Parts: sequence; C-alpha cells; structure tokens
Amino acid sequence: MQKGERVNFGSKIGAILAAAGSAVGLGNIWRFPYETGNHGGAAFILIYLACVFLLGMPIMIAEFTIGRRSKASTGGAYKALAPGTPWKWVGYMGVLAGFLILGYYAVVAGWTLEYILEAGVNGFSGKGPDEFVAAFQDFSSDPFRPMLWLVVFLLGTHFIIVKGVKNGIERSSKILMPVLFILIVILAVCSMTLPNAEKGLAFLLKPDFSKVTGDVFLGAMGQAFFSLSLGMGCLSTYASYFGKETNLVNTALSVGVIDTFVAVLAGLIIFPAAFSVGIQPDAGPSLIFITLPNVFQQAFGGVPLLAYIFSVMFYVLLALAALTSTISLHEVATAFLHEDFGFTRGRAARLVTAGCIIIGIFSSLSLGVMQEYTLFGKGVFDLLDFVTAKIMLPLGGLLSSIFVGWYLKRSVFYEEVTNGGTLKAGVCRLCLFLLRYVAPIAITLIFVNELGLM
Ligand code: PFF
Repeated sequence: MQKGERVNFGSKIGAILAAAGSAVGLGNIWRFPYETGNHGGAAFILIYLACVFLLGMPIMIAEFTIGRRSKASTGGAYKALAPGTPWKWVGYMGVLAGFLILGYYAVVAGWTLEYILEAGVNGFSGKGPDEFVAAFQDFSSDPFRPMLWLVVFLLGTHFIIVKGVKNGIERSSKILMPVLFILIVILAVCSMTLPNAEKGLAFLLKPDFSKVTGDVFLGAMGQAFFSLSLGMGCLSTYASYFGKETNLVNTALSVGVIDTFVAVLAGLIIFPAAFSVGIQPDAGPSLIFITLPNVFQQAFGGVPLLAYIFSVMFYVLLALAALTSTISLHEVATAFLHEDFGFTRGRAARLVTAGCIIIGIFSSLSLGVMQEYTLFGKGVFDLLDFVTAKIMLPLGGLLSSIFVGWYLKRSVFYEEVTNGGTLKAGVCRLCLFLLRYVAPIAITLIFVNELGLM
C-alpha cells in the first residue's frame, strides 16, 4: 500500500469522527426524547426526520463548504469569503449561540457526573420510580451540587482545549462511540421487553397528526439543528481542518445517519421504559434522569452486578459523548477570540470558560432557588434553550443556506463538493436546489407560522 492511501483513509475517518463526536451528545440522548415527549411522539419524529434530511443535510454540506474553502473559524470564514459585507455577522451570531448553548449544556453535562457517582456507589439499587423522581428534584434544585459538577465539567473541557489533546479524544472516540452504540442497542432491547412497553412503542411509532401544531414544526426543526450541531458554524470550523480529499457529501450523510440512529435508539430506550413505570413522557429535561435508573433496576434487577455495570458504563459514556460536544462548542468561541482579537489561545479559552461558568451558574439556579425569576415565562435555563435552539440555530441555518445557495459562486460550491471535479457532480444540483429554495422557504414558513402571522 502506498503511503498516501493510508493518510487518505485516516483523515477521512478522522473528519467523520470529529464531526460525529460534536453531533452525538446530550442532544440525542437527553434532548431528543424529552422534545419528542413534549410534542406528542411519532408525528414529531416524522417531521424531525424530514428536517434532518431536507434541511440538515444540505446545510451541513453548505457549512462544510464555507469552512473548508475559507480555512478559517466561523468568525473569520464569512469575512474571508465575502470581504467587506455584513455576512460576517452570521459568523458572529454563531459564536454567540455556541457560547450561550455551552452555558446551559454544561449544566446537564454536570448532571451526568453526579449520576456516574450515584451509579458508582450503587445508589440506584433497591429504589423505585417515585424515589428516582424525588432524588432528581432534590439534586437539580440544590444550589451547590449541580454548580460544582458544572464547574468540574467546564474545567475538564477547558483543559482539553488548551492542551490540544484533540488527537487523543479523536482516537479514543473511535472506541468509545461504538461502545456507546452497542450499549444503547442492548438497553433499547431490554427496555422494549419491560411490561407495558408496547404503549411506549405505540407512542413512538403511531403518528397522531391531530397533535401537530406550529410548535411541533419549530420544535422538530430546532432539534434537528441542535442535534446535528448546525447553524452556528461549529461544523464549518471543523471543516476548516478537513483535507482536500475529504468527501463532503459522504461525510455529511454519515454524520446525519449516525446522529439520527442514536437519537431514535434513545427514544426506544426511554419511552417503553417510561410507560412501563408510569412516568409521563412530557416530564421535560428530567426525563432521562428519572427513567433510565428504572431501566437499569427493572431490566437487570435479578442480576445486581449487571445492573451496576450497565448503569456505570452508560453514564460514563454519556458524559464522554457530552464532552466531545462541549469541546466543539468551546472551540468555536475560543478560535474566534484567538483569531479575531489576537488573544493567545490560553487567554481566549480562559475567557470562554469563565463566561460559561457564570451563565451556567444562573442556568442551574433557575431550576431551583431562582425559579421565580422569569422572562417571557421562562427561567434562564429554558430561555437559553429556547433562544438558541429554536431561534438562533435555525436563523443561522437559513442565512448559511442563502449564503451558499445565492451569494457564493456556483463554481466554488461545485469545486468543493466534487473535490475539484474528481467526484460526481450529480448530487450538487440537488443540494443547490435544496439550499436555494427548500431550506430558506421551509425555515421562513416555520418561523412565520410560529409568530402567528400565518
Ligand atoms: N449536537 C450536540 C448534541 O446533540 O448534543 C450539541 C451541539 C454541539 C449543538 C455543537 C451545537 C453545536 F454547535
């Protein structure tokens, strides 16, 4: 084998792994099930799948094009490709979105650490559904513990960002991601064999279109952008590190399929189990934290060692999946401050970490002692989630589709997608059509509909 071929192969897998590492995270295992639960189940999932493949895939290819072409982080990418125009603000909005997401995402990532500890000391053993609900409520409304874990998680992310041990993370995710995947397949099978599981399956698989409102569309679109790490330049920043031989379309499809698989499997774990133990599917952000300990207890209750091993492994892998996503969120803001403001990488990272700790503390407190401080009826945690996932990311996606579909020269797009003419161009036409017409019109309609203007 020639030297060049091996390098080629390695970088192809590296590109997919890095992007999939960013995409697969709490969005799939924590957010997707509770959004599905809040929006009535199967019909939401169908709309979600349409959003992933009709909007998410072309926009991911657009972001890859922007990143690889400009070889700059998202802040600088638009400036490089459209100098002297206001397009740079799309990049800046992405940086802000990433910073705000990290501020509340790290709170939930911190919760996974508490649950690793709880699983590690065998704290789930012998407990029932009501006790898990009470335990979660006590913990998440506690003023100190979640804050401590949030700081630990952000410092861990910070450490990796400044040490630049990205390589280690990438290499280890080659093993960790498949293990997480196998584990969730086993858990899904276990969950589906619990008593009354069929009610959960029906909730997931039998669409009830009478429940579909404008909110369901906005929720599904927001979830698609959040889960695929789109709309804030995260994947365009990663694409600035792609080699010239990376096949952008295949990489996007691989990431889309992996991400969707993990989300659907997470649904197959949570809902059969939730219906089996009588937990409401619309329990919100607490859903996986009160349902999963039940799955471990009930499915492996007869073999305590197995219940113990599965629960520890699951939360460790969940924390690691969250870590590969927090790294990508942190990287966007750090790279921006470093490249655009001339801060050293260390200083840039410290600013981002400190800012996120402050936002994270308020997000965390808004679920407990600061519950009554709300804006538009939402506390800090819910407000950040709403503004970023349901407004900023789809808006970023809309603008990047217009940028690549209408502003960027068609030849530049073709050159990137076909790797300078070495790959087939057929898919370019479809992709460009989706970017020019389908994505901008669909996203605008969903926004307009939500605002009640239609
Ligand atoms: N996609 C990640 C998840 O599903 O957990 C979250 C995320 C990462 C969102 C990076 C946005 C982003 F740029």
